[in-house]
Amino acid sequence: MGIRILGTGSYLPEKVVTNDDIAQSLETSDEWIYSHTGIHSRHVAGEGESTSTMAAKAAQAAMDAAGVKPEEIGLIVLATSTPDYNPFPSTACIVQGLLGCTNAGAFDLQAACAGFVYALEQARGFVNFYPDKKALVIGAESLTRVLDWTDRASCILFGDGAGAVVLGNDEPPGVASLKTKAHTILGADGNGSHFIMRTGGCKDALPISPVTQVPEKPQPFLPELTLKGHDVFVFAVKTLAKVSSDLCRMLGTTPEEIDRVFAHQANGRIIEAVARRMKLPLEKFWLNLETTANTSAASIPISLDQAVKAGELKDGMNIVMVGFGAGLTYAGTFCTWPNL
Ligand SMILES: CC(C)(COP(=O)(O)OP(=O)(O)OC[C@H]1O[C@@H](n2cnc3c(N)ncnc32)[C@H](O)[C@@H]1OP(=O)(O)O)[C@@H](O)C(=O)NCCC(=O)NCCS
Repeated sequence: MGIRILGTGSYLPEKVVTNDDIAQSLETSDEWIYSHTGIHSRHVAGEGESTSTMAAKAAQAAMDAAGVKPEEIGLIVLATSTPDYNPFPSTACIVQGLLGCTNAGAFDLQAACAGFVYALEQARGFVNFYPDKKALVIGAESLTRVLDWTDRASCILFGDGAGAVVLGNDEPPGVASLKTKAHTILGADGNGSHFIMRTGGCKDALPISPVTQVPEKPQPFLPELTLKGHDVFVFAVKTLAKVSSDLCRMLGTTPEEIDRVFAHQANGRIIEAVARRMKLPLEKFWLNLETTANTSAASIPISLDQAVKAGELKDGMNIVMVGFGAGLTYAGTFCTWPNL
């Protein structure tokens, strides 16, 4: 059996904001947004909700599906770009407390929209060497809290939510990965770091005291999200198709052998272009962004859970999970469900 996904879970907030709602205060329309992105509406975290609360709900659902108790979890890796606090305490630690996973180490991982596949790979390494423990891998975001709602070019794209999986392993330490061919690509292109940015970090200018050479007093961060949409679009199409094809080549198979692709849900037109490039029917690509929009690191695990619940993910299917995002980052993994 080896390393496998034992259960999946997801959570989408109850509150829904449609394109028509946004068009009430911005010069845009449902027609423009849908035709350029494939998005009609998005879920928005409500009062009292945050990345940690959504993550905990998705993770609890995944543990229930896996039949795993909180104390069996040895590691929580939480991929997010929108932590409860910036940067500490980590949201993963808050989730560890909420779930009562008292035996788990916990950390956040920031690889933007490619974060879930990065996190999955960290957890895969962990359960490979500690097969008596389970790992929780979570992607969770509350992006609607960091958007500029006056910028029609970016605010229409994103939504909130969380998805999670539980990983387990029944092989002796180290054996599972020896038996599995390399099937994951983690990559980055820092030359495109200015394509998608959220400013407001430690690099931002502070008034430095000429005497002490340290900031005179703490300044509130004033974050701003900037997006070069067209450049990201071009990068995304090229990269998603290349990573998926390279994975097939590494494993000595062909794209036609893929049963389902779980690509990051950023724009329906990106996914259509990837399908054309890979010469695969669009039906092989999971699409949910019409009602979720781009939930960044949460988009792949939410899609996985929806596919499981819909009975569309059957044991033995060849699946590819592939994402891209700010950094620029990209990541893909090929597996035979539910084995990793
Ligand atoms: C953002 C994105 C939807 C824009 O689509 P596009 O077809 O490239 O549109 P453009 O940016 O070229 O803008 C075309 C025109 O539409 C306008 N426009 C932009 N957003 C609009 C909106 N919400 N409503 C109406 N018009 C809009 C622009 O102002 C521009 O007008 P102009 O030609 O008069 O200047 C698309 O580039 C995209 O999806 N990019 C990748 C997404 C991404 O970066 N996601 C985050 C990382 S995962």
